[in-house]
Amino acid sequence: MAKKKLRDAKIDRRKFLESAAGWLSIAGIASLSLPFSKLLKSTSHSFNIQVKLSTLKEGVNFLKKPPLFIIKNKNHIEIYDAHCTHMGCILQFNENDKIFECPCHGSRFTVAGKVIHGPATKPLKKLKYYIKNDNIIVG
Ligand code: FES
Repeated sequence: MAKKKLRDAKIDRRKFLESAAGWLSIAGIASLSLPFSKLLKSTSHSFNIQVKLSTLKEGVNFLKKPPLFIIKNKNHIEIYDAHCTHMGCILQFNENDKIFECPCHGSRFTVAGKVIHGPATKPLKKLKYYIKNDNIIVG
């Protein structure tokens, strides 16, 4: 009887260790894939689009797809990725305060893309572009 209890305890311990090893393997794979998914997310914001320069108003223009802010001031244009640098939510432009605001966790940015309130710590991503005829080509 005592031998049977001892054998059952060994089997239970073996099952536990096998199960624990399985869960640790899954956790290990998940932890390796996390930075990879962040890398994919951070590189997914390249754009190859065309926008008619003549259709833009003076000031901040929001383009939905892909989400961009195109800031037009006389002959000067700046383009920012509209994704918050904290966790990627789409920013909104506050016309009254002239700042970009994140609806998710409250980060705020100047129209020059600088962080004025966290949790974001990085400035907005400024995008390169060129103008050909009346088209702004971003990408
Ligand atoms: Fe913008 Fe968190 S995603 S503040």
